[in-house]
Amino acid sequence: MSQSTTTTESDAPASGHQEPRMIRIFDTTLRDGEQSPGASMNLAEKLEVAQLLESMGVDIIEAGFPIASPGDFAAVKAIASTVHHSTICGLARCSDKDIDAAWEAVKGARSSRIHVFLATSAIHREFKLRMSTDEIVERAIAGVKRAKAYCDDVEFSPEDACRTEHDFLCRVVEAAIDAGATTINVPDTVGYATPNEVFDRFTMLRNRVPNMDKAVLSTHCHDDLGMAVANSLAAVAAGAGQIECTINGIGERAGNAALEEVVMAMKTRQDFFHCNTRIDSTRLVPASRLISKTTGIQVQRNKAIVGRNAFAHESGIHQDGMLKERSTYEIMSPEDVGFSKTDLVLGKHSGRAALADRAKTLGYTLTAEQLNTVFEQFKVLADKKKEMYDGDIVALVQQQISGSVEEQWSLVDYIVSSGKGRGPSVELTLSSGDENFTEKVEQGDGPIDAAFWAVEKITGIEVVCKDYRVRSATLGRDAIGEVNLEVDYKGRTYRGVGSSTDTVESTIMAMLNAINRIIADRPKTSR
Ligand code: KIV
Ligand code: ZN
Repeated sequence: MSQSTTTTESDAPASGHQEPRMIRIFDTTLRDGEQSPGASMNLAEKLEVAQLLESMGVDIIEAGFPIASPGDFAAVKAIASTVHHSTICGLARCSDKDIDAAWEAVKGARSSRIHVFLATSAIHREFKLRMSTDEIVERAIAGVKRAKAYCDDVEFSPEDACRTEHDFLCRVVEAAIDAGATTINVPDTVGYATPNEVFDRFTMLRNRVPNMDKAVLSTHCHDDLGMAVANSLAAVAAGAGQIECTINGIGERAGNAALEEVVMAMKTRQDFFHCNTRIDSTRLVPASRLISKTTGIQVQRNKAIVGRNAFAHESGIHQDGMLKERSTYEIMSPEDVGFSKTDLVLGKHSGRAALADRAKTLGYTLTAEQLNTVFEQFKVLADKKKEMYDGDIVALVQQQISGSVEEQWSLVDYIVSSGKGRGPSVELTLSSGDENFTEKVEQGDGPIDAAFWAVEKITGIEVVCKDYRVRSATLGRDAIGEVNLEVDYKGRTYRGVGSSTDTVESTIMAMLNAINRIIADRPKTSR
């Protein structure tokens, strides 16, 4: 049996002079977050995210839903064997096969948890499960007991709990705790609840469920009405001891509560919440960047805590106030959440050590090999640009780490021409193995379209472009242009990312990144 590293804590909200309560952060970026359309990650990416979550102090990492696919199973198992400081959790429905698979996947972890769930609301009972209340209680007990036979640390979630009748919710929760659940998670599955309702529901559970003190109460809120963070904090105010959340708030539909927001709310308003977490807040921005790079889901500029504008003061009155006393308009410091103090950093005379140091401050620890490649690219870029900003460094580093896909095809050279009233022309050379392949293409709406055609012609892989976005990594006209694209290949979506000061080059690199993912995804024999 695996031992949980954390012990059950009192769920009573602290007040007055009591010590702050420690709130567990349960990150579900790799499970609920990965359910965001287009956010799927490969094994190497999931491992990298898990390692970052561990290094930032996440208590529990929900690494996936092992029964969902062989890929999910393999990822949870790999994370379980490489992450040592966080508890690794696998999700399961209340069915033997699910629970057995979850245990197989998490059992190698130093600390493992099985998370079983079963819907309890009338809507779900009647239309989805077609089960009576008695059957639900029976199934929940059986699921928790089976999980408990494997693992000490068992979480039970009554799915759609926030729309479940109070009496029935109390009955299921009491039965699940009796059966051995050590955490009871109360999800607002459809993002319907309001903060006052959440507060009342958690208070009701603490008052009415006789064995509630034997389990940690947890909150899991979706953001359909934009209230996931407020609802999670209301649950904490009512005694919840665990928050389930995701980096950048990614997740099903409108997403989940954003980890960075709940953490900074409790840190900044300790006077109000009297709570702490184990999260190193200076890792929040690097984590946000990694997730947005890995999933291709960009963070809006005005996003709280990690958005590019979160600490930007535009109005003259605000700037004047800031210069006189920062606290006039700033309730947190940008350094606290991982933005670096200075943005203008390196130039072409900067050395490898300075680059490694800068990358580290920005949240990336590079291997010697990665550093060598990034340094080479840095020198080339520094020759083109006078000043290198953090955004440039991040783009270079992330391009390197997003190369967690085996490079079947890489760019050797291209010549492009186009003009008003003239069709585009692209002559492209790619390499695969030791061979170079060149194609000249004179078709398409413009140079970008022609580059797409040329890549397809050489690689023999035809895709449908579903999304194409260009973003400048920094300010200025010599900024790196980062291309993010989503393509459809045989009904599956693949992402690609590429960065360069030349948008045609970024596009070719993004396209090759997507094609290399497609190849990596194919069975070996059909490559
Ligand atoms: O939103 C939800 O109800 C879930 C459960 C599986 C916890 O994600
Ligand atoms: Zn959810």
